[in-house]
Amino acid sequence: MNMAAKEIVVAQAFERDVLAGLSAEQKTLPCKYLYDETGSRLFEDICGLDDYYLTRTEAEIFTQQLDNIAKTLGEGVTLIEPGAGNCEKAEPLLQCMLAPAGYFPLDISPEILLKARQRIQACQPNLHVIPAIGDFTRAAVWQDLPAVTGRKVVFFPGSTIGNFNPEQARALLELFSQQLGPGDGLLLGADLVKDSVILERAYHDSNHVTEAFNKNLLHRINRELGGSFNLDAFAHRAFYHQLRQRVEMHLVSLEPQTVEVCGRKFEFEEGETIHTENSHKYTPGSLEELLRVTGFEPRQFWTDHQQHYAIYYAEAV
Ligand code: AVJ
Repeated sequence: MNMAAKEIVVAQAFERDVLAGLSAEQKTLPCKYLYDETGSRLFEDICGLDDYYLTRTEAEIFTQQLDNIAKTLGEGVTLIEPGAGNCEKAEPLLQCMLAPAGYFPLDISPEILLKARQRIQACQPNLHVIPAIGDFTRAAVWQDLPAVTGRKVVFFPGSTIGNFNPEQARALLELFSQQLGPGDGLLLGADLVKDSVILERAYHDSNHVTEAFNKNLLHRINRELGGSFNLDAFAHRAFYHQLRQRVEMHLVSLEPQTVEVCGRKFEFEEGETIHTENSHKYTPGSLEELLRVTGFEPRQFWTDHQQHYAIYYAEAV
């Protein structure tokens, strides 16, 4: 498919998913649509916030444990990173790894990937950097990758796993393990269950960046699908759901209102919400169980002094 045809397919999927989501009993919108250009920029801003402890805590663990992690990964490894984005997390790791054989970043955005490849190749000219464009939750993009003779490690940092519900997370890790052979590995970053005050502050920050990030989805629907959302008539809400061990993000209708999207009308009661994102939290126990049922054996884990975040190395069995 050429680029223009791909764009049309993507736009049709957005329309279909938005209309279906707004028609559901609990209105919902798939969280992947939060990350358009503006949304991705806002998410980067979130990563720099004091209230959003995830990014800096993961970075702190990586900085402190880089040598240990590199040793654990071993020599001559090909690192495969689903959802690599700008590849900034892999760079220091690749520099510390023992004679890495290759780096395969996967992402839906070709521009960022190609820029990152240039940057990494300039520092490590002998490394085979081979990007693949596509949705890493689908098998197709993995089939585009060249065959590898040595060991492979899937690198999945950033608590991206948190966006997947338990069933989807199992399917995703199974997809990863299908790409690996015995002795290959998975290096996974996940956010841990903790005091709900800390969790809720991370998703309802005092700078209101997460609010802007959440509401940007309504902006996007207005712009791309001719929506009539009044952004002032919705509020950002984020709360920790103890039982489901996840932070849920919603947009709350502040009044009874009717919104039009693609010529269709959607009614909102006062207080009715659109569920826009989940961020699942793990305990070492729940994470180890997830790894074991998906074809991995947990080998090592590294955490920060407050045990807010964990980086796991697991071996494919
Ligand atoms: C990109 C899934 C790791 O859940 O912490 C941050 C997304 N949403 N603030 C997360 C997010 C609102 C983020 N992940």
